[in-house]
Amino acid sequence: MITHIVGNRPQFIKLAPLYRALNQAGCVQNIIHSGQHYDENMSDVFFQELGIPNPYVNLMAGGGSHAQMTAKAMLGLEEELLDKKPSLVILYGDTNTTLAGAVVASKLCIPIAHVEAGPRVHCKANPEECNRIATDHLSDILFCPDQISMQNLQKEGLGDRAYMTGDIMYDTYLSIAEKTAQDASQEEIIVMTWHRQENTSGKERMESILNLVQQLGDKVVCPLHPRTRKCLTEYGLMEKAEAIPNFEIIDPVGYMDMVALMQRAKLILTDSGGVSKESSYAGAKCLFMLDLDVWEDLVRDDWIHKVDPQDQTRVEEALAFARRAKHVPQADRPKYYGDGHAAAKMVQALQEKNLI
Ligand code: UD1
Ligand code: UDP
Repeated sequence: MITHIVGNRPQFIKLAPLYRALNQAGCVQNIIHSGQHYDENMSDVFFQELGIPNPYVNLMAGGGSHAQMTAKAMLGLEEELLDKKPSLVILYGDTNTTLAGAVVASKLCIPIAHVEAGPRVHCKANPEECNRIATDHLSDILFCPDQISMQNLQKEGLGDRAYMTGDIMYDTYLSIAEKTAQDASQEEIIVMTWHRQENTSGKERMESILNLVQQLGDKVVCPLHPRTRKCLTEYGLMEKAEAIPNFEIIDPVGYMDMVALMQRAKLILTDSGGVSKESSYAGAKCLFMLDLDVWEDLVRDDWIHKVDPQDQTRVEEALAFARRAKHVPQADRPKYYGDGHAAAKMVQALQEKNLI
């Protein structure tokens, strides 16, 4: 029995192709949902759209501080893993759910596979960095989305467990993109996502991001993460946000709608690790709102441009980058993240290591 442990939006997107590939390989699987994301449009919609079977249990560990959420997930996971005794646990990405799964499974001596291993932002104040480092070191087999992640793992002495499979989100993206292909006459937009702790935990920071949106001038469509809506409301900034004429705030969308939005984009403004990488699949350059070492190949190519919204000089540079941006045709997009067959490569590696 293979157990997938998921709980966050991007993890559902990563799970879909691997679940399918393991099914085709004849594996028996189940899914544990930590409950970290719980709104219908942050969770259920992805299971429905991507054809993922329902989790057999939801640990309802969402909300609260990092420690509260991680601890609650750990307690529930220990109970479930002791009961079902899977032969392999599969973890995804870098969230508190991932960390909880890594700590519990490793102490129960259950082998762990980590999907999206190896990215490093070189900043321990970033909560996702802590989660990812700990999970990589506790895992038995590591699946990397790009060569830089492979190199990071080699530097940390984990090279012998690492496989370059490419990005599994690209598998999912390709499975959707043809169905949602946009007609060229559609108005080009800027798509925005905004949810990271560093960008939602101070009024000044949030205000500076709103100012950046306003200065962009072109239509910015933003499926707003519930954390960000909550913080804007708490800081009394929701009215200001809604009054920005070029800013269209919508509720979080399912993956098909998200891909359709990105296909219409000439630029993506984001602080999301996943969305900044997906920008290269959809052909829209990316303004990244954190000073972290994100997807370094794309930064070097000037595909991703980092902006500090609180630094007016950097904002001016970002506005110039935005003015130059236009939708990039398929043939001219960067290709660092594999060939869209990551799930098949993961299954093969698991077979080679006798883990399935
Ligand atoms: C989490 C991950 C982050 C990942 C992101 C994906 C951690 C430390 N962070 O961040 O790495 O990029 O998921 O989206 O694990 N909320 C709701 N409804 C929901 C989900 C969240 O209202 O369905 C609100 C709650 O007030 C919650 C807050 O958003 O406390 C933050 O949610 P949380 O899961 O802690 O952080 P994310 O920003 O979603
Ligand atoms: N996404 C989505 N709907 C939205 C916003 C994002 O389907 O309203 C998708 C997005 O395309 C990407 C994933 O969710 O595949 C990224 O999730 P998020 O930004 O929450 O997490 P991160 O990548 O920062 O961990």
